[in-house]
Amino acid sequence: MTTTLLGTTAVRALVEAAGAAPSLRNAQPWRFVFLRDSATVRLYADRGRHLPQADAEERGLHLGCGAALFNLRVAAAAAGRDPVVRLLPDDCDGSLLAEVRLTDTGHRDESLARLHPAVARRSTSRRPIEDDELPAAVRGALCDVALREGARLVFPDALYVRLILQLVRDVEGGASPEAGVPSRERDFGTVPVLPGRSRAPFGDRPRIALLGTVHNRPVDWLTAGQALEHVLLLSTQHGLVTSLAFHPFEWPGARWTEGDRSSAMEHVHMVLHPGHGPQGTPAPRRPVAEVLEIM
Ligand SMILES: Cc1cc2nc3c(=O)[nH]c(=O)nc-3n(C[C@H](O)[C@H](O)[C@H](O)COP(=O)(O)O)c2cc1C
Repeated sequence: MTTTLLGTTAVRALVEAAGAAPSLRNAQPWRFVFLRDSATVRLYADRGRHLPQADAEERGLHLGCGAALFNLRVAAAAAGRDPVVRLLPDDCDGSLLAEVRLTDTGHRDESLARLHPAVARRSTSRRPIEDDELPAAVRGALCDVALREGARLVFPDALYVRLILQLVRDVEGGASPEAGVPSRERDFGTVPVLPGRSRAPFGDRPRIALLGTVHNRPVDWLTAGQALEHVLLLSTQHGLVTSLAFHPFEWPGARWTEGDRSSAMEHVHMVLHPGHGPQGTPAPRRPVAEVLEIM
């Protein structure tokens, strides 16, 4: 693998793209170190920006950092690099979330590079989203890219949509998630209540999707974060907007669509509502100089 040098301007552009990623309450809990000699970017969790009340187990922190990592990969591909990623490369340092070697083998992932314009255009929607049916091909493409990243995106059957919405409303309303719901719904198991979170702007019958993974470790959350951003950028490219709700829950053995074995997914990390609607308002970002160190 060759690793010709990258200039400061190019590195700053990569980190600026990474920093445009979504994060829980826009906390931006990341920092980057660029190692010139090996053309390697290290992504660290910035635990000073972790939100312990809303995100006790750090799932949200890892999801946001995974999304930042995905943007970094997209920007690297657009700059003609072939990013080689190792997640959690240091057993002794859990803050080092990923190492990205920016090789220039001549191979360029065109499908990643094509997403680059969407990095700056994407924003989280908090306005009403139309509930017209998304074309099956678009839904399929969104599910495919989540799978390609190692996570799963599922558009649940109507029965589950109602259950999930009830769950979301119970949690948003501060009620116990188990209170007054049918026994089947109690199978949701542990549902962390996240104090002070903004209301999920879902309508009455939204076409929601669940993003999850088979396992539930930090490495799975980083994987899910990359999948989340891949789904969001592809949605943006298709002219869609997406609202998000952070509702981690576990449902052992759940199969979210009838007769589809691949829809099995125990650990759900995010509820997404993609559709047509007004663009979200861009949220401010920390300056690159604050999050990047070059060595
Ligand atoms: C892990 C995670 C959880 C989030 N949870 C919510 C949520 O519950 N409700 C919401 O409206 N937005 C949620 N968001 C979106 C963030 O609020 C948003 O990314 C951030 O404010 C920056 O704005 P932007 O996405 O428009 O750039 C979440 C994002 C991430 C990555």
